[in-house]
Amino acid sequence: AVPMARDPKEEFGDLIAALPRKEKFILVGRRLYKGFWLLEPYAPGILAFQRRFTPRPDDVVLTSYPKCGTTWLKALVFAAMARDAYPPDAADHPLRRLNPHACIPFMEDIFTKRQEAKLDGLPSPRLVHTHTPYALLPDTVTTGDGCKVVYICRDPKDMVVSMYHYLRRLHPDLSLADTFHSVLDGTVLYGPMWDHVLGYWHASIARPDRVLFLKYEDLLRNTGEHLRKLAEFMGRPFSAAEEAAGTVESVVELCSFDNMKNLDVNKTGAIERKYHSVAHDAFFRKGVTGDWVNHMSSRLDEIFHDKLRGTGLMD
Ligand code: A3P
Repeated sequence: AVPMARDPKEEFGDLIAALPRKEKFILVGRRLYKGFWLLEPYAPGILAFQRRFTPRPDDVVLTSYPKCGTTWLKALVFAAMARDAYPPDAADHPLRRLNPHACIPFMEDIFTKRQEAKLDGLPSPRLVHTHTPYALLPDTVTTGDGCKVVYICRDPKDMVVSMYHYLRRLHPDLSLADTFHSVLDGTVLYGPMWDHVLGYWHASIARPDRVLFLKYEDLLRNTGEHLRKLAEFMGRPFSAAEEAAGTVESVVELCSFDNMKNLDVNKTGAIERKYHSVAHDAFFRKGVTGDWVNHMSSRLDEIFHDKLRGTGLMD
């Protein structure tokens, strides 16, 4: 068993209690910290991460706004970095028996559960993930040599639709309109999303050797090309021999939406977070770009239909 770290709820409780608060959205309240709305139950863990995490120079911190392709990024990065120990074609590859979220620790969860000693035991290069905005990352990550940071963003309209379907699992009464408005007013899940995206965008321009900025849409269009970029950025470029052997294509195939979605491990089971559990299959819905068209235009049609019904205008 790992030794428990100091309880961040005790350590940061007073600081958090003094922050502006918004009532529950879905399951939890939100607190405004330095311009970002944090999920209340994770706020202590985020502060502990910010103040206690010591990166190693070859760490890779994966970052994202929720529902922008985190699961896919985790799979690609894990498969690329572990490819010597686990060739992507291997029948016993960890990604064939574990959900990608089980392969890469989520900092909010680790620090909230006071399990950060686990991180010390991980072999280098360590791969970790957080949704924390760039401005709230530990100074040890964002200054000096820090470590590598990879961010993935996505068309916000598709993010909203993805979030709607995801959150509806936790709260079946949720409407698309409520999800949409919570994103618009910036108060949901580490929002505002535009500041989240911009923080990483500016950092990727200022520190291109340390921060890599990816777009879900680009990744879908040409996964191999971006996987090569990722591997190079992380200091593990694909060799000529690997290129000749088709290793890039094998990683892309292993991590593809169709492959991942249809694995038994991703069709069953759930991730147990400290405050809720999420079914593995909730992370694999459609995996396309532009799905917002199927929701937003039809929703607008619905509203107009309702409002104009019986007026004769629609006939
Ligand atoms: P949709 O709901 O639009 O299908 P996150 O991983 O950040 O929670 O984001 C989830 C979104 O990424 C979902 O989008 C999900 O289907 C998509 N996704 C998950 N795995 C993927 C993969 N291997 N390839 C492409 N998209 C994937």
